[in-house]
Amino acid sequence: MHAERLTPTNLKYPYVLNRIGVQLPSIAIIGAQWGDEGKGKITDYLSEEADIIVRSQGGNNAGHTIIIDNETFKLHLLPSGILREGKLAVIGNGVVMSMADMIEEMKQITDTGRSLDGLRISDRAHLVLGYHKRLDGGEEIYRGSKTIGTTKKGIGPAYQDKAARNGFRVCDLFDDVSEKIAFNLRFKKDLLKLFQNGECGCTEESIAEKFKLWKDVFGKYVCDTSVLLNEALDDGKTLLFEGAQGVMLDIDHGTYPYVTSSNTTAGGICTGSGIAPNRIGKVYGCLKAYTTRVGDGPMVTELHGTEGKYLMEKGGEYGVTTGRGRRCGWLDLVVAEHSVRLCGIASLALTKLDVLNGYRKINVCVGYEIDGRTEKHFPASLSKVSRASPVYKEFDGWDEFGPSEEAAKRGYDALPKNMRAYIEFIEKYLKVPAELISIGPKRSETIDKRAERM
Ligand code: GDP
Ligand code: IMO
Ligand code: MG
Repeated sequence: MHAERLTPTNLKYPYVLNRIGVQLPSIAIIGAQWGDEGKGKITDYLSEEADIIVRSQGGNNAGHTIIIDNETFKLHLLPSGILREGKLAVIGNGVVMSMADMIEEMKQITDTGRSLDGLRISDRAHLVLGYHKRLDGGEEIYRGSKTIGTTKKGIGPAYQDKAARNGFRVCDLFDDVSEKIAFNLRFKKDLLKLFQNGECGCTEESIAEKFKLWKDVFGKYVCDTSVLLNEALDDGKTLLFEGAQGVMLDIDHGTYPYVTSSNTTAGGICTGSGIAPNRIGKVYGCLKAYTTRVGDGPMVTELHGTEGKYLMEKGGEYGVTTGRGRRCGWLDLVVAEHSVRLCGIASLALTKLDVLNGYRKINVCVGYEIDGRTEKHFPASLSKVSRASPVYKEFDGWDEFGPSEEAAKRGYDALPKNMRAYIEFIEKYLKVPAELISIGPKRSETIDKRAERM
């Protein structure tokens, strides 16, 4: 008997090829800089085409802004899909979850009359507890002048516990973990003694009580999300992976040690949500038309003094999670190339182009001058990065074009000529099309060029 011939449709993971030979069962949105590129807005825009929106890493260090019908939402842990009726919003195993903060965030949703029925939480996700936050703050003080500038949400210490195999996972809420609570508490109390005012702020009893509360509040949403997502794909559903942070904050590929503690690159989607690499069809890179960074660490194109402050004000660049002013500078294509290569970015969502309206001249960094040589790739060594001067290509600016919603309706070809030249230079440099052009925070302030490419 002959074995049945394997074709794209009778494989375990059937796939459909589009005209460029790519399988498209799911899409991902990755921040291509240091976070805050506008991923929330783009996720919401694309969520119309998806059945399930998934977060696979990070925690409530993220802050994603979504505007729906003049209502503004700032989400930290909940995937943006929670705002759209009929969609599932999944928190994958790679996320570190502060359930205490999540309860607050859920209230933001239910206060607007929306339901949380679509929420699903991985039984393998790790918990962020109060002592993680205290350790985060303590570690930052201990670092003295070498702070990372974390969000102090306990993200680093929670991932430390995960890697050290001391973490609590969501599934632990359903088991007797009293011995583990006692062990962890002893351990954390000793650790916190290293820091000023290093009180733990909890007891074995208070943790056990919280676990009971969280089991009651979250129990109905908990499941094996890897099974859920893979079965959804088998059924022909579309997944949208909502990235958090950005490539330059990736623990392996970012500006280490000035990074977060998770893999923010596309690879983190597989480990963080339990789906295989061949099930991610298309990666969108969310790229802000200039650069911002919150917290410490190198940023080669940073504008200091009044120039930086002007861009910060014009772009409304204040952190959603911490309220800190974001450092601002020109677009850095060395950074963008790093992101495109690491994540297989097939399409760009270029955001906040409208913020550059009215500039007379605009710079784009196309290389780093380091020790007399021009580098095109982002170096590993931060001492090298600290010696880098940006090599700029200068562009003529463009005038204000009036209300963005109307400009979006007029379409790409009606955008100012110099703006189009700027966009097309970025596309050519990175060899990636800018399919979504965002010129305002609302959905309706988006130019979608995908139809042109079909
Ligand atoms: P995220 O973390 O990547 O989701 O981004 P944040 O929400 O932290 O920051 C992006 C900010 O820019 C938010 O206030 C958005 O509402 C806003 N925004 C997104 N896209 C655009 C755009 O194209 N133009 C303008 N002016 N604002 C935008
Ligand atoms: P979204 O998803 C911008 C930064 C912090 C700090 C570093 C480490 O909104 O783009 P952490 O608390 O993670 O240990 O802090 O990472 N950071 C972000 N910066 N946007 C984010 O998320 C960020 N999440 C973490 O400012 O420099
Ligand atoms: Mg943000």
